[in-house]
Amino acid sequence: MSQTYDNLADYYDRWIEGDPAAAPCAAFYRRLYMETKGLIVELGVGNGRIAGPAARDGAEIVGVDTSIAMLHAARTAWAEHTGGRLHLIASDMRELPLPSGTVSLVALPFRTIGHFTGNEEKLRVLVEAKRLLGPSGIFVVDHYVFDRDWADAHNRRWLKMYVGCDNADGEVGIYDRYDYDFENCMMHVTTRIERRANDDEDKKIEDTRFDFSWIDPADMKVLIDRAGFEVVDVFGDYGGRAFDGHAEEQVWFLRAQ
Ligand SMILES: C[S@@+](CC[C@H](N)C(=O)[O-])C[C@H]1O[C@@H](n2cnc3c(N)ncnc32)[C@H](O)[C@@H]1O
Repeated sequence: MSQTYDNLADYYDRWIEGDPAAAPCAAFYRRLYMETKGLIVELGVGNGRIAGPAARDGAEIVGVDTSIAMLHAARTAWAEHTGGRLHLIASDMRELPLPSGTVSLVALPFRTIGHFTGNEEKLRVLVEAKRLLGPSGIFVVDHYVFDRDWADAHNRRWLKMYVGCDNADGEVGIYDRYDYDFENCMMHVTTRIERRANDDEDKKIEDTRFDFSWIDPADMKVLIDRAGFEVVDVFGDYGGRAFDGHAEEQVWFLRAQ
């Protein structure tokens, strides 16, 4: 997985522009970080697009990621602006070099749990998050609610995520393709980056492939119970709407039992 994001780090912000959930997700977590008293850990902190602004505004955050390129992007963008309040650690979130019982909020934003394609792997993430939490600490984790109609309409097609032009990269096109494996709640993702330098006739095409899973909310609840969490709340989107049969997202607020 670190190789995947090492390949995508330079294009990450442009790539996620193609996802309508990217901005509301960031706004939701930044607000949550600003409301939290005490230490925050963001699992899969990426380029710090959420943690950076919150640390700049006063939050104390440890950001964990396996991708050296994403961590480098976070450091470059935020180190000078966060007054030492953003601590970046290269680590797998399933085995963290952090002490138990000291954290007020552990967050796993933007459907990153989907990178763990088996339920036992997802459970390992939940158990490790729980280990970090202090007595009244909260773990917040989100994913989308799988939409079969959307998947059928987009299966095995190229989806435009970004097209633009700038001085540094010339013309850039970013496209996603999802090849669904419905039986295993998984898709094989190809992210294609097409670049044409300003003085070049030829296009350079680079594909990055990875697997991504979804999880039914009922199955997520089973993992939550197995990890020893109780559900404090669950939202149906990043704006705080109630979770019901029409919810597009599942945003879980969990506390250790
Ligand atoms: C979808 S991005 C989310 C980044 C950021 N939280 C955001 O919302 O923009 C997922 C991030 O998780 C990281 N990641 C994936 N698997 C990981 C693992 N096992 N341990 C730590 N980080 C991981 C990736 O490198 C990537 O930066």
